[in-house]
This record gives sequence, C-alpha cells and structure tokens, in this order.
Amino acid sequence: MEVVESIERIRERVLQLRAQGRRVGLVPTMGALHAGHLSLIEASRRECTATVATIFVNPAQFGPSEDFSRYPRTIDQDLAELRQAGADLVFVPRSEEIYPPGFSTFVEPSSVAAPWEGSCRPGHFRGVATVVLKLFQILPAHLGFFGQKDFQQALVIRRMVADLNLPIAIRVCPIVREADGLALSSRNRYLSQDDRHRATAISRGLRAARNRFLAGEARAELLRETVLSELRQSGITQPEYVAVADAETLAEVTEATAATVILVAARVGQTRLIDNLVLGDSNDA
Ligand code: PAF
Repeated sequence: MEVVESIERIRERVLQLRAQGRRVGLVPTMGALHAGHLSLIEASRRECTATVATIFVNPAQFGPSEDFSRYPRTIDQDLAELRQAGADLVFVPRSEEIYPPGFSTFVEPSSVAAPWEGSCRPGHFRGVATVVLKLFQILPAHLGFFGQKDFQQALVIRRMVADLNLPIAIRVCPIVREADGLALSSRNRYLSQDDRHRATAISRGLRAARNRFLAGEARAELLRETVLSELRQSGITQPEYVAVADAETLAEVTEATAATVILVAARVGQTRLIDNLVLGDSNDA
C-alpha cells in the first residue's frame, strides 16, 4: 500500500491504474477509522479492482466552535488498518496541499443541504461539498463510497454529482453498529462510560419508531414522539433535532411511508452524535 502526500503523485498513480484497465474506488475519510470506514473499503474492493482511501481532516467543514483541533488523529493506526483491509493507495495531504494560500472557491450545495445538519452546522456542507469535489478532481475514480450514517451528506454529494455532471458513481453503504445499536462514529471515543451507555437511546428510539411504523402507525408526529421519549428516558432532553422526513428531499412529512427517514442529532454529554433510520430499510437492524 503506497501512502501519498502530493496531489501530483496521487493523480499520476490513479491515472496509471485507470490506464491498466483497473476500476478505481475512492473512500474519502477524515481518519480515526473504525469498522464503518473499513466496510467502505470492503465495499470498494467488492466492486473495484483498485481502492484508494483518503485521510484528511477538512478544516472547511468545521464551524469555529466545533472540534476541528481536537478531532481524533490516529494516522499510524489508520494506515495499519487500511493496509490490513486491502487498500491499494492512501492519500494523506497536508492542509496547504488542499487549501493553498489564495484558495477562495467553494461549492454552494443544493437545497437538500439547508435543513437539519445544515441549519445546526452553518457552512458544514459547503465545506464537505468543496473538499469532496476537490478529491473527485484530484483522484479520478470510477466509484465513490460513503456511509449512510451521514445521510444528509450522502444526499448532498449525490446531488452535486448529478448537478455538476461529475463522471463518478456514488455508493452509499449501510450504517455499521455496535452490538447494542450505537452507530459507529469517530466521535464515539469522546464518550464517557456513562454517556456511552446513554447514547444507545438514539438507536433504540429509531428502532422503536420503526417498530411502531411496521405495526401500522404512520403519523409522523407519533413516530417522532417515540424517539423523543426514548431519548428523554436516558436524560437526553434537548436533541438538536429529531426529523421525520422524506428520504430524498429531507422535507418533513406528516404521514410516514417506507421512504421516510428519521434523522437524529443530539449531544450526549459534550459529544454530538447523529444517526438515522429509513423506515422501509429492513437491513438496518
Ligand atoms: O464523512 C466524512 O468523513 C467527511 O465528511 C468526508 C466525506 C471525508 C469529507 O471530508
């Protein structure tokens, strides 16, 4: 596995792979890898004949009061895991490589970026869309792999790819969960033992809502209340949002269908967690 820091070299290597007829999969990450990321590498290896991962903690997607400086950086372990998982190339640029002095062009994401994460984290999706477009330009891959845990992010990226005619196909891979339901996240490592335990209320609430839906309850307000009630029982009284929304547009719905997603963002202790469940998705346990 080759580790590359420069744009020039990674582009050259990816173009070589393409010239050899390899189908190239791209897995963008911010490092602090966990089994969710590794499932993206596996998905890429199933569909592609070369897999390129990137590790870059993108300053442009963090707000001024967010955790950019303390975001976990575990590069040696990340590289060992990527090697073990079978990645072929890893791009680990320095910040100045991606954002050289004078950098001043950003992607304005579509309206799907506006609600939920978009309103809680102003500028976040602008930063995500910009860096992802840059990665797509730097590394001309055939397929890009993203996790469903960042549900809204995946929609923003899909929309950008369609709107800007980018020659890459996007795959969104299922959420990987701990045995007790907690969605894997690089930020889970911030949780104290007590918060870690309380955090399970999020996935429990989502599952309880889906069970009610499967039992015939379609009123969105009641499904939302089901999630809120689980959260309250664990002392999470002020989630940032619990949204029952259309899985394509993210507009709130009043009647849920199989194509409805429930999105949650909540602080557990000091740690901000997000999770989601599509009501008709029987694969997410
Ligand atoms: O999902 C992430 O880890 C990041 O938002 C991404 C897609 C790597 C862009 O920085």
